[in-house]
Amino acid sequence: MRTICVENLKGGVAKTVSAVNMAWLLAAAHQKRVLLIDCDKQGNASKFFDVHGYENPGLAELLTSGKYSLTDVAQWDTIRTVEIIPANMTLLKADREILMDCTRPQQTRLRKALNPVRDLYDYCIIDCAPDLSMSVINALVAADDLLIPVKLDKFALDGLDLILEQLDAIREFNPNLARVAAFATQYQRNLVNQQAYGLLSAMGLRSGFSVFQTVIRKTCRVDESTFAGIPLVKYAPKSTAAQDYRALVSEYLRLTGEVE
Ligand SMILES: Nc1ncnc2c1ncn2[C@@H]1O[C@H](COP(=O)(O)OP(=O)(O)OP(=O)(O)O)[C@@H](O)[C@H]1O
Ligand SMILES: [Mg+2]
Repeated sequence: MRTICVENLKGGVAKTVSAVNMAWLLAAAHQKRVLLIDCDKQGNASKFFDVHGYENPGLAELLTSGKYSLTDVAQWDTIRTVEIIPANMTLLKADREILMDCTRPQQTRLRKALNPVRDLYDYCIIDCAPDLSMSVINALVAADDLLIPVKLDKFALDGLDLILEQLDAIREFNPNLARVAAFATQYQRNLVNQQAYGLLSAMGLRSGFSVFQTVIRKTCRVDESTFAGIPLVKYAPKSTAAQDYRALVSEYLRLTGEVE
């Protein structure tokens, strides 16, 4: 199993949309067994797949209670394409609990919980909150690859510095972190976006992360797909951004040596 963490400390850059569409494409188009983890108290990925609620245990319980194994908290989406570990506002309390409880290791709980299911899934994709809460730190420590979606506006590179600063600390707990790569989202073919993409590439060269050639174009079909609760790549497969997400997943699989 390869674990992909989708994170940027900036909000609204398409972390959830990217995690959901990548998970769906890996499962439906590439026939991979995929686990999607919602690591955000907002629960957007859970809401998207209609598994948001307070009746069943989710990521918060997995991280804090010794009672649950990963298979106890994973749920299928309605048409059984990906399995999801949901999140909700109890993750706030769980984050605090992890911080207070130093009787058990605090940063490696998710990685440990994933260990027994490494043969059950090909990919685990983690949709992170735009913060460095204990649950997000657990996600980063569990990751093989960190993918950073970037919206190329005036404040595009804010937050990127901060997460890069954290990488050394994360690597102390996670020597497996193999790849850090950014990609542009909500891209528009205008001068500002072209210049910002150049800046992002230069920053990548300087700071040692790669930048995907594929950019995800901006289209109103994405908002529509969130209302429909259907991944864009299924809802509007011919839309520009759906084409781009297919290309992004192919580029990712080429990068990791999975396909030529
Ligand atoms: N390619 C795109 N074209 C147009 N709109 C997009 C695109 N990608 C994402 N959006 C829109 O941008 C908004 C933010 O997307 P999303 O929720 O995935 O961001 P996020 O980074 O997960 O946010 P948060 O930090 O709050 O978790 C949503 O309204 C979504 O529909
Ligand atoms: Mg999100």
